[in-house]
Amino acid sequence: MAVVTTPATLERALPAMDDAEVLRIRNDFPVLNQTVNGQQLVYLDSGATSQNPLSVIEAEQEFYEQRNAAVHRGAHHLAVEATEAFEDARQTLADFVGAGYEETIWTSNATEGLNLISYALSNATLWAAQGRGDARLKDLALKPGDEIVVTEMEHHANLIPWQELAFRTGAVLRFIPIDDTGSLRLDQARDIVGPRTKVLAFTHASNVLGTINPVRELVALGRSAGALVVLDACQSAPHLALDVKALDVDFAVFSGHKMLAPTGIGVLYGKQEILDILPPFLTGGSMITTVTMERAEYLPAPQRFEAGTQRISQAVALAAAANYLTETGLDRIHRWEGELGQRMVTGLESIAGIRVLGPAAGKERIGLAAFDVEGIHAHDVGQFLDSRGIAVRVGHHCAQPLHRRLGLTATTRASAYLYNTTDDVDRFLDAVSGVRAYFRA
Ligand code: ALA
Repeated sequence: MAVVTTPATLERALPAMDDAEVLRIRNDFPVLNQTVNGQQLVYLDSGATSQNPLSVIEAEQEFYEQRNAAVHRGAHHLAVEATEAFEDARQTLADFVGAGYEETIWTSNATEGLNLISYALSNATLWAAQGRGDARLKDLALKPGDEIVVTEMEHHANLIPWQELAFRTGAVLRFIPIDDTGSLRLDQARDIVGPRTKVLAFTHASNVLGTINPVRELVALGRSAGALVVLDACQSAPHLALDVKALDVDFAVFSGHKMLAPTGIGVLYGKQEILDILPPFLTGGSMITTVTMERAEYLPAPQRFEAGTQRISQAVALAAAANYLTETGLDRIHRWEGELGQRMVTGLESIAGIRVLGPAAGKERIGLAAFDVEGIHAHDVGQFLDSRGIAVRVGHHCAQPLHRRLGLTATTRASAYLYNTTDDVDRFLDAVSGVRAYFRA
């Protein structure tokens, strides 16, 4: 039998990541090579935004130095070069998540991607009522009594656009609760998701709990209800191998800045058959075929969803970031970050007065841990850690309802990426173990 060599088999042949490799990786990230408050920076805030390797910084610089022009418009050399770079980048990102080229839409970030879906669905509702567009739009239209289902662990970006869609259409917003360990109540989900569910939107991995949700079970529930399934991949696409086709979601969104790319660029994946009929969100130049003073005809996807001059250099840089992650190996990164996450949780659980959110040590989680320090506000914890050169995020992490459910208003969160060593985690744990004594709690 012939041996087929794929990127996945090559990756399996590579050894697991270790501290020595991470230190080599870290050399690619100039910003990490600095001292903060007299100590070597330990950056544990990649859940909020990640850092950029030189190859990404150089890709954006090279674009501006060699190719900068508006895409899809000019007849000149630079415009052709810029268009090629922009569309090659789209193909890279499509390959990165197993999507088709036409199914891969640039957005400014995941938040915009989710708003795009929300507004395109209310436009579908309007168009269906007006008899505009494809006859199948009536299947996407929402009406009073229809239901939009999210989960109790969503960050605001995957909650508020659905609240607003419900307000605009009269649909009802429902949510799948979590249990005290931070897992979704699938038993309840089976009662909540039903024939009235038009949209089921959930996060792949929680930015607060670290929980990885059972996507296949949730997609199966959504399918049996005939709902559109929307995956928020903000905390998964940067950290594990994502295949939107294998998961069979209808839409998926993620942000570039959480996966080594600059801010201002993100991706929306949408299934071709839905994008083919979906009305646009933003309208204007670059997304039309013919325009009269009265009306306009729209291009097919992806251009229909990309009005105006695009984020060209950012898309090129995002492709460089995707290549960096692919070359390192998403499965290897995921395993390494899983180890760092376990090290964080095991260490935090052993410190008196600390409550860690989400799955206990030994249970699967991504490489982050949010925690409460008894008697001390998260902002004080964050400042104390910063005084030791350790960067974490404090607050509600754009997930107020989740914090409320857990009886908290704010927590401290450490989130790792492929450039963090076990020593980073140990320095963080060592510092956290001194917090309560410092504040005499
Ligand atoms: N970007 C937000 C975070 O830091 C949601 O998790």
